[in-house]
Amino acid sequence: MKVLTVCLGNICRSPTAEAALRDAAERAGLSLEVDSAGTAAYHVGAAPDARMTQAAAADGLVLSGQARRVSKADLEAFDLVLAMDRQNRADLLALATDEAMRARVRLFRDFAGEVGEDVPDPYYGGEDGFHEVVRIVRRAADAVVEAILHDEV
Ligand code: 4NP
Repeated sequence: MKVLTVCLGNICRSPTAEAALRDAAERAGLSLEVDSAGTAAYHVGAAPDARMTQAAAADGLVLSGQARRVSKADLEAFDLVLAMDRQNRADLLALATDEAMRARVRLFRDFAGEVGEDVPDPYYGGEDGFHEVVRIVRRAADAVVEAILHDEV
């Protein structure tokens, strides 16, 4: 199973979701391949945001990787493409050219029963926002792993 997390810049939310999914899968003994990407090109090649890295580390998550932009090929290569917010989902659906690609695109928080909710963009806010992202993403990642284990994806 291959899962891709997607936000705008690929330096805050999606790398945190990627790390939380890896952690949740490992705790559950589930073999999962996870990557992340962004819909925008601004930060391509950059490491995860230092404020996000610090908030994630406070909860035991190590962020890694360099930002990259999502592509149409990702919608074919990954089984599940998890949008952090509704704008990300709209942008992903605009890249899709067939129903199979569209069907792989899901809103991340839907899995935690937080249907239609965005993972809020922390980039222009204060430190609290980064900790909130970690809490939200942890819940959703655990729920995604549960759904995969129960064949509900
Ligand atoms: P992310 O956060 O989408 O969670 O990685 C952002 C990163 C950069 C920008 C916005 C959001 N930006 O406008 O540069």
